Amino acid sequence: MADKKEIVLSGIRSTGNLHLGNYYGALGKFVRMQDDYDCNFFIADLHALTTNPDPRELHANVKNILAEYLAAGIDPEKSTIFIQSDVPEVAEMYLLLNMHVGIGELMRTASFKDKARKALGIGVPAQGDDDEAFEKEIIGAATNKRVNAGLLTYPTLMAVDILIQKATKVPVGKDQEQHLELTRRFARRFNSFYGVEVFPEPYNFDFGGKPVKVPGLDGSGKMGKSEGNCIYLVDDPKVLRKKVMRATTDEGPKEPNSPMSEPVANLFTLLELTSTPDVVSHFREAYADCSIRYGDLKKQLAEDILAVTTPIRERVNDILADDAYLRRVVAQGAERARERAAATLAEVRSVMGIRKF
Ligand code: ADP
Ligand code: TRP
Repeated sequence: MADKKEIVLSGIRSTGNLHLGNYYGALGKFVRMQDDYDCNFFIADLHALTTNPDPRELHANVKNILAEYLAAGIDPEKSTIFIQSDVPEVAEMYLLLNMHVGIGELMRTASFKDKARKALGIGVPAQGDDDEAFEKEIIGAATNKRVNAGLLTYPTLMAVDILIQKATKVPVGKDQEQHLELTRRFARRFNSFYGVEVFPEPYNFDFGGKPVKVPGLDGSGKMGKSEGNCIYLVDDPKVLRKKVMRATTDEGPKEPNSPMSEPVANLFTLLELTSTPDVVSHFREAYADCSIRYGDLKKQLAEDILAVTTPIRERVNDILADDAYLRRVVAQGAERARERAAATLAEVRSVMGIRKF
C-alpha cells in the first residue's frame, strides 16, 4: 500500500541549472528512491526569494529545474512533484512554527552567517568564527545595509516543508545537515510544548550511508552555484570537457605513496562518484607509483561524467518545449502535496488552540 511506505521529501532552490553537486547530493538519490518510498520532490521557489532574484529569472529557473527533474528520471506517476509556492499551507505553518523558533539559534546557523556576510560584503574573520562577535557585527552592519528577515528564518521554512508532509527521510547533501538538525529540534520542541506527538523526526538519507560533498574543480571546497565552479548537467560536451581539463592539479607525486594535495584528492572524489571501481584503482595505483598522468585521469573523468549527464541533457529540451505536460505534472503534484499539508496544518492549528467557533 502506497501510504504505508516511509515518507520522503526533498527540494532544490530554483536559482539556476542543476550541477553535479546537486546530482550526487540530491537528485540522483531522488531517482533511486522512487520505487521504495512515498516520494515527494519539490522546487523551493520561496526559498529562492530569500536572495531577491529577478522575477523573470525566478520563473524561468522554476521551469528549468522542473524539466531537469523529469529529464533525470523522476517519474510523476511514482513521485509527487510540486512547486513550493503552490502549497499555501506551507506559508501559514511557517508563521505558526516561527512562534517556537529562537532568533538566536537562527543567527548561529552557518548558512545564515554565510549569506548575511555575502549580502553585507564582509569576509569571514581570520581568527575563526565567534558567535558573539558575529552577532554584534551583523546587527551593526545590518542597520546600514539590508539582511532580509527571510534569510534569517530560512531554516523555519525548510523545517515546515519537511514537517508539514511528516517526512522521515530527507535526501540532501552534507551542507544541509545543520538545517535537518534544526528541523529535528523544532519538531521535538513543538511536540513536547503541546504534549502531542505531531511530528516525526526526519533524517538525511544516502545510499552509501554517508552524505556526500561534491568538490569543485578549482581545488577549493564544494561545487556550488555561488562558487562559480560548477559542471552543469546540461553542459555541452565540449564545454564540459574543457572544464574538466582545466581542473587544478599539482606537479605530481615525486616519491611513491606521497600524500595527496587537496585539488588532486578532489579529482579522485569525483572519479569515485562517476567511474567504475577498476578505473579508480588503476589511477590510485598510478598515483602511488608516480606513473600517473593527470591529463589521462581528466580525460577519463570527463567521459565518465558525460555518461551520466548526456541522457539528461538530451531529454531536457523536449521536456522544456512541452508546456502542457509541465503544467499537468505540477497541477497533479500540488493537489497531492496539499492534501497532506492541509491535514497537518489543521492538526497544528487545533493543537495550538486556533479552533473554529
Ligand atoms: P547550490 O549550493 O549550488 O546553491 P543548492 O543549495 O540549491 O545548491 O542545493 C540543492 C541540493 O543539492 C541540496 O540537497 C544540497 O545539499 C545539494 N548540493 C549542492 N551542492 C552540493 C555539493 N557540492 N555536494 C553535495 N551536495 C550538494
Ligand atoms: N535548503 C535546501 C537547499 O538549499 C533546499 C530546501 C528547502 C530543502 N526546503 C527543503 C531540502 C526541504 C530538503 C527538504 O538545498
